Amino acid sequence: MDARGDFLVIGSGIAGLRAAVMLARTGDVIILTKTEHQESNTGYAQGGIAAALAPGDSPEQHARDTVAAGDGLCDEAAVDVLVGDGRQYVQELIEWGVRFDRDERGELVFGLEGAHSTRRVLHARDTTGREIGRLLWSHVQREPRVRVVTGEATVLVVHDGVCIGAGFVSAGGLGTITAEATLLATGGAGYVYRETTNPSIATGDGLALAWAAGARLSGLEFVQFHPTVLAVEGRPRFLLSEALRGEGARLVNVAGEAFMARYNPKAELAPRDVVSRALVAEAARTLGPVSLSLRHLDADFVRSRFPTITAACADAGLDLATDYVPVSPAAHYIMGGVETDIDARTSVPGLYAAGEVACTRVHGANRVASNSLLEGLVFGARAARVMSTPWTEPHLGEAEVVAWVPPQAAAGDVPAPDAVRDLLWHQAGLRRDHEGLAAAVEQLERWAGALAALGPDAGRAPAASFVTVGLLIARAALRRQESRGAHVRTDFLERDDLHWRRHVADILRLSA
Ligand code: FAD
Ligand code: SIN
Repeated sequence: MDARGDFLVIGSGIAGLRAAVMLARTGDVIILTKTEHQESNTGYAQGGIAAALAPGDSPEQHARDTVAAGDGLCDEAAVDVLVGDGRQYVQELIEWGVRFDRDERGELVFGLEGAHSTRRVLHARDTTGREIGRLLWSHVQREPRVRVVTGEATVLVVHDGVCIGAGFVSAGGLGTITAEATLLATGGAGYVYRETTNPSIATGDGLALAWAAGARLSGLEFVQFHPTVLAVEGRPRFLLSEALRGEGARLVNVAGEAFMARYNPKAELAPRDVVSRALVAEAARTLGPVSLSLRHLDADFVRSRFPTITAACADAGLDLATDYVPVSPAAHYIMGGVETDIDARTSVPGLYAAGEVACTRVHGANRVASNSLLEGLVFGARAARVMSTPWTEPHLGEAEVVAWVPPQAAAGDVPAPDAVRDLLWHQAGLRRDHEGLAAAVEQLERWAGALAALGPDAGRAPAASFVTVGLLIARAALRRQESRGAHVRTDFLERDDLHWRRHVADILRLSA
């Protein structure tokens, strides 16, 4: 099936849907989405969306918290846009009918999460993303100029250096959608790791598509590992929201002792990278599991505030309110991505990117909780604003640009996705070193060569995105010889501002 629209939006999470609602005012929009529209990281988001709307809070304070957690790599101008526009766009969601939690007087209830200096997280119990997705989807459905196609984008179509759409595969076969402007809103890449909070759609396809089209990518070494993910043998790695700790949950060691204050003065509410590292260190020190404990909190409150998490724990035979619930870190979010300016323009004319697939540099080396839904909302809307105007050159941030030659086609085994997921988990996970990363890069290059030998069909091989994204992450992690934010090198444990307080962007050399 071939189709043409004014605008192509790839992805139906918060970034894609928010953009589509606005684009439909000026043209015909096609949303191309991999599977059911609600199957996205957005659909699983628990804790909430951050916005400086509470009395006494300010965008300036929100910006300071974001920059502090970003460990020296946030673009402060982009952060100002995030937190400034964020207030307006979240307010708009409220006016449109998103049902955020309110108290008995009808006032919005603001939650607390790690690295936020004040309560500023709006939430809908523990299914905030589903509630926002419901609302945006209902708007999209009312737009006669929006058409939804279920299919997986496998290539961006670039003609004379300009992106003019995408090729895709669907139940009905292959197709191409052409458009004046294309928005990548394909989300993150957590599922390229064996242990992850992300659903199986999150395979970094947008990163691989943009890479093959010649776009600049950066910050891919910064993969966030969420500290508190249910760790029960044989059960899915279900996220136990940071909002639990915001409401007072403690991390305890095998002896039942709360330990976080020994690692950081902010204890359970330290930035996520700090908590993940502390948790692993404590488990190693005590040779036992680490658990979340809510036993000191009111059980009725716990169960009514967190009904979905309560149910997931019950499925694993645990009572969230009264049991110690074992946790360990898992891949959750990627701070890097397709480089964009503050209007979502990438380095490829005609191609825009917003949401988790993009790297606006608002998160630096470590994202603050609940800033990701905000980013998708804000930059999805900003993308839509400029996509109906003629293309202008993006103002990408400063970076050293490294050009890579495409992998040489070579006979070899094409891996199953799980082989890549295992490799990344063991060798490019929470703690990395030269030896593991160098071996991972070597293996991934061999696999990339085997994929290249498949010729034009390579992009449709099940492991294609996994290998490309894995290689980008492992190379970036090998290159950055310091520890900063979510990137922990056990052979370079210190942050090294002299050499590494900078961005490195990668680009595929498309011609000799
Ligand atoms: P997504 O919501 O992931 O949407 C991506 C879309 O692209 C999907 O529709 C997918 O099907 C589609 N797609 C992907 N590849 C292709 C392809 N090749 N072809 C066609 N379509 C494709 N952040 C917060 O701020 N607050 C939270 O409380 C929070 N909780 C989270 C809880 C969990 C369990 C997870 C996994 C993440 C959480 N996050 C949270 C992070 C946040 O949910 C995501 O970063 C954000 O929703 C990303 O939005 P997005 O629109 O960029 O991508
Ligand atoms: C959570 O609820 O802990 C996830 C929040 C986020 O990723 O921002």
